[in-house]
Amino acid sequence: MEIKAIRGFNDILPDEIGKWQFVEKTAREVFEGFGFSEIRIPIAERTELFSRGIGEATDIVEKEMYTFADKSGNFLTLRPEATASMARAYLEHQLYSFDPVAKLYCIGPMFRYERPQKGRYRQFYQIDAEVFGVGNPVVDAEVILMLIHFLKRVGLEKLELQINSLGCRDCRPRYRDGLKAYLTEKSFQLCEDCRRRLQANPLRIFDCKVQTCQEAIADAPKVIDFICDECDVHFNRVKEYLGMADLDYILNPRMVRGLDYYTRTAFEVVSYDLGSQNAVTGGGRYDNLFQEIGGLDVPGIGFAIGMERLISLLPKDKEFIRHPDLFIAAPGKETHKEAYRLANQLHIEGIRAEFDYEGKSLKSQMRRADKLKARYVLILGEEELKKGRVVLRNMEDKSQEELPMDNLLNLLKSKIIHD
Ligand code: HAM
Repeated sequence: MEIKAIRGFNDILPDEIGKWQFVEKTAREVFEGFGFSEIRIPIAERTELFSRGIGEATDIVEKEMYTFADKSGNFLTLRPEATASMARAYLEHQLYSFDPVAKLYCIGPMFRYERPQKGRYRQFYQIDAEVFGVGNPVVDAEVILMLIHFLKRVGLEKLELQINSLGCRDCRPRYRDGLKAYLTEKSFQLCEDCRRRLQANPLRIFDCKVQTCQEAIADAPKVIDFICDECDVHFNRVKEYLGMADLDYILNPRMVRGLDYYTRTAFEVVSYDLGSQNAVTGGGRYDNLFQEIGGLDVPGIGFAIGMERLISLLPKDKEFIRHPDLFIAAPGKETHKEAYRLANQLHIEGIRAEFDYEGKSLKSQMRRADKLKARYVLILGEEELKKGRVVLRNMEDKSQEELPMDNLLNLLKSKIIHD
């Protein structure tokens, strides 16, 4: 039986990889420019990190984690997100002892056992950026500014930044009680899952897609009307700083985010070109996460960009595939050796050169050069080689010129690299 990839786990094929590399390279450039450093964290962690960090009563922890016992009976989970792991690494390696402020980013696969559909996979990639150790609202705005700048740099347009405040440990319980009281009246409209959520975690009802639940929640009280004075001041300052940076945003009082660790500022970037899975990025502040996972009292804020969704929005007219710079067409035994020698030299110079391995006819080699979309073809004919001359053909404008064999490498380098 033919073995296929696991459902919801995708191959990223060579003709798409240019987009991924471009996005990752741009993220590194932009984030490092903003003072962030890369961190690489393990794919698996102790399950407890996520159940405590993300929250027991979230969809991710309740239903979506890839959890298994290893051979020693330890419960491990394939990371469903990176924030909790990055916080753990900050604590474990006492990164705060050097400087309490850590600006970190991480790129890699995450795993959630969700129902696969367009834009929703079981293995998916995130670009994640976090700032640990700053509670000041200026950093909320700075992080959002970096995100929007990055999304524009990769060419995304028609995006909407949505923000909300989710309050804090002091004011959110009041909101939770208010919401619970309101929805208890409407519990007959709620699906079975949401009736359970009503007791365990009523905020999660906002994320339910069931029509009657959406109707029940439509006029529910808003968290923003319940936040305490300090949270209100914080949110106003975030808005002020966003305004100073000329960033457009809309207030979305119904956006509560799917993870429990959030406090105060929450944000999403959505694209209406994406269909139902329209969030390209989600993020926010989480001032209690470190304590939840058993650490110090460290504030934090960050975001994660879904790479598959981002890549599906890249400009369609941009070319991301790297074609060969040069194809060496060399029919005949002697010229074949010469092609091998020259190709090696070119590769060492970083020039993407191809030649024919099979000793095919000139015609078929030319066809392959065409198919591979090589920029140039170097024709090494037996007769020409004896005379010490070769032909270079520009495949775009079809012009041809003769080049001497001596000094060929330098001539090709100057043509191809400066072209
Ligand atoms: P999240 O909203 O769960 O937040 O995920 C962030 C982004 O990852 C989403 O906006 C979406 O683009 C992408 N994403 C999530 N699940 C899937 C999936 N199954 N398939 C494809 N893409 C997906 C977090 O993960 C938080 N850790 C973000 C954060 C960082 N908050 C603070 N710091």
